[in-house]
Amino acid sequence: MTGLRLILVGLGARSRTWRRVIARDPRLEVVGLVETSPAALADAAAAYPAAATGATLAEVAALAPAEAVLLITPPGGREDQIAAACAHRLAILAEKPLADSVGAAEAHVAAAAAVGVPLSVGLNFRYLPVTVALKQMWASLGPPEFGRFLYERWRDGRQTHLNRYPLTMPQPMLWEQSIHHFDLMRHVYGAEPVRITARTWNPSWSMYAGDANVAALITFEGGIEVTYQGTWAGARNELAFNWRTDCARGVAVQADMFGGLSWALRDDPAPTPVTLPPHELWVDDAAALLEAFVAHLLHGAPLPCPGTDHLKSLRMVEACIRSAATGHAVDPGVPAAAPAAGIAVPTA
Ligand SMILES: NC(=O)c1ccc[n+]([C@@H]2O[C@H](COP(=O)([O-])OP(=O)(O)OC[C@H]3O[C@@H](n4cnc5c(N)ncnc54)[C@H](O)[C@@H]3O)[C@@H](O)[C@H]2O)c1
Repeated sequence: MTGLRLILVGLGARSRTWRRVIARDPRLEVVGLVETSPAALADAAAAYPAAATGATLAEVAALAPAEAVLLITPPGGREDQIAAACAHRLAILAEKPLADSVGAAEAHVAAAAAVGVPLSVGLNFRYLPVTVALKQMWASLGPPEFGRFLYERWRDGRQTHLNRYPLTMPQPMLWEQSIHHFDLMRHVYGAEPVRITARTWNPSWSMYAGDANVAALITFEGGIEVTYQGTWAGARNELAFNWRTDCARGVAVQADMFGGLSWALRDDPAPTPVTLPPHELWVDDAAALLEAFVAHLLHGAPLPCPGTDHLKSLRMVEACIRSAATGHAVDPGVPAAAPAAGIAVPTA
């Protein structure tokens, strides 16, 4: 096999990036389009006149033989999509988060594993040059011991180029945005979380029904302590990102979501900036992820961002929610059904 036939499910905001990325790779052919909105389906179908179209993956997969499917739908309610992909043995690349609950995500991962269908998750931030460079810094700075991760944004969820479903979902910041950050922490530190204490809340001016703010203290194995704060309802229309990691010999600072990387030893008078390779935002990172997914299917390379791994980041989201609800610290490795995992947090 030298190429892959793809079916795209969900033709909204994020699919526009994926369509650009797919168009760059001559090995890939879009043979099917699935969308519940007739207008969005017709709009996309104009660009792929030969593709089969429909409102469900089951019907389109029956019409258009394919090797893989991209799930670019909202995370909730993907059961039928996963079932159809498994029934037609379509490898799955699903946008993050895989589901809107850990239980649903576990069921998706188990369903794919049961029939030997590869399941990757769209964690494109792992493929940013800044992420690759940051992950390599511990060799010179020493192992990370503590960090501070800050993400402050006024996200106007009513803009037409953005998806709208987060406006009404519970905990939109955690499921839609912090999931990237938690995945980056695990990926860059190469460590799993063992204890999370969190608060979530909604500022009075928030346009989101669920909490737009998250604050968390996260302990990773080996004792790395991370202070995390994220908001989609910052009171200024700017995006502030700052991720500092303190190591035995110095610090690494990522001062921008897509770059701004520097490092400094303890007594350095000024930080040293890191030169990163050119990168088309949103496109090159998704392309690198898709390249890895294709390499797995065509050449047996390792599956990138497997669903099994993604579950560990989703459990961090759930641990934040459980901690915020109970006031207890939570071990994200222990399922919610085991309340003994909670450790009382002093209130004074
Ligand atoms: N990795 C990233 O950087 C990134 C960026 C943006 C969005 N995303 C993710 O991409 C996914 C989609 O987000 P979006 O911004 O495109 O949302 P969106 O709401 O703009 O688009 C989703 C589309 O899916 C369609 N849809 C809903 N249910 C469907 C179903 N059962 N079958 C077929 N189509 C269905 C909707 O009609 C809509 O057109 C989400 O999981 C989101 O978190 C990831």
